Amino acid sequence: MANPSNNSNPIWHPFALHPQEKLPQVIKAYGIWLELANGKKIMDCISSWWVNIHGHCHPEIIEAITNQAKSLDQIVFADFSHESADNLAQGLLEILPSNMAKLYFTDDGSTSVELALKLAYQYWQNIGLTAKTKFIGFSDGYHGDTVGAMSLGQSSIFTRKFNQLMFNIEIIDYPKIYFNDSKITPKNDTVLAQIKTLFEQKANEIAGIVIEPLIQGAGGMNMCSVSFLQDLAKLCKTYNVLLIYDEVLTGFGRTGDYFAATKSQTRPDLICLSKGITGGILPLAATVMSQAIFDTFDTVELTKRFFHGHSYTANPIACAAAVKSLELLKRNHGQFNNMENIHIDLYKRYLAPNIYIKNYRVCGCIAAFDLNTKLNLETDYGNNLSQLLKENLLAAGLLFRPLGNVVYIMTPYCITANELELIYNTLTTKINALFTSYAKLNK
Ligand SMILES: Cc1ncc(COP(=O)(O)O)c(C=O)c1O
Repeated sequence: MANPSNNSNPIWHPFALHPQEKLPQVIKAYGIWLELANGKKIMDCISSWWVNIHGHCHPEIIEAITNQAKSLDQIVFADFSHESADNLAQGLLEILPSNMAKLYFTDDGSTSVELALKLAYQYWQNIGLTAKTKFIGFSDGYHGDTVGAMSLGQSSIFTRKFNQLMFNIEIIDYPKIYFNDSKITPKNDTVLAQIKTLFEQKANEIAGIVIEPLIQGAGGMNMCSVSFLQDLAKLCKTYNVLLIYDEVLTGFGRTGDYFAATKSQTRPDLICLSKGITGGILPLAATVMSQAIFDTFDTVELTKRFFHGHSYTANPIACAAAVKSLELLKRNHGQFNNMENIHIDLYKRYLAPNIYIKNYRVCGCIAAFDLNTKLNLETDYGNNLSQLLKENLLAAGLLFRPLGNVVYIMTPYCITANELELIYNTLTTKINALFTSYAKLNK
């Protein structure tokens, strides 16, 4: 039923029902903390939509931004370059897999994926294999809200309304694994066999396969194994299909290594980067590619040129933030490298004994679990139970955004072990309280 809103709030917030009142205003952010106008302090347990990696308002990034803004604010990147873009490209290529050679800037995760799709598509056109036009994606994949990115994620509840606008893809199961899972190999084998069959039948039509490597974000913080990626990479090589990593979430330390590609020691053909690229302070994205892909565009032939660009491509202030963020990431390597061990220890102490949670999984700096209820993400997105949990956690000073029944922890890397312990402790207390009162209500 329609829910006509008679409030005068002019702002329409993403993914939200139009709020009846203005949402709370955040007036300050520092480290892992957000401060509201009413003085309340909240711990940012989701890195402000997964972008913030070094903590809010990091003084060194703020200084880099300020200095850049004083000298060069914005420039048309089709005709000029600038020092921050050059330094960023150099710094990124130093830590990306060694086959990555060229980098194309865009503005956000969705456009970095659009770009990868267009590059992959035109690559095959440029070399004359014009039938290779189809893409493969994974169940529960999420790659953004532009039409190409939505097409890849078309198994999701978010995109179903737009089915007629989107191009068709083949969808493969994501081989989900959990902590201490003993079924990793059989799960991988089943999915790899599915992919092999598809490649055997249709590789001459398939341009690329796009995956959120090691961790699928919005589809439920699902995780797959390193060995799955390694075998997938081998299949792509054998059947001449481009392997595209959407590392918009997994990039910049989230997996415990710089990238899922470096952690798995795989060499995709294209990698999409955004979110943590600037430390989570300004919007920026880049799609990185192998020399072989770039070479097919590097010609005077007009028909092979890549006609694509955005007004704010490689904005100097965003690039300056990214250069400094990369420097911090390299300097503080130990922080994100060690976080998985801390999560596992806390899981064993606080969550493992909790009967109301199941399917704990962890990869690097991201830990997730499912609430043990019969509700499911498909039909109950934003269901009452997780909504109540979100509200109770917020009242206790913790910012969470469950994805259906999935609760995840994804803090900036500067969080201390004690602060992380406080999160696990509060989570288990609030989950116990919620399930106990919910059970009473439903008797
Ligand atoms: C894996 C992945 N790709 C792409 C996107 C889209 O990024 P953006 O919201 O910056 O467009 C997201 C956003 O959550 C994501 O998690």
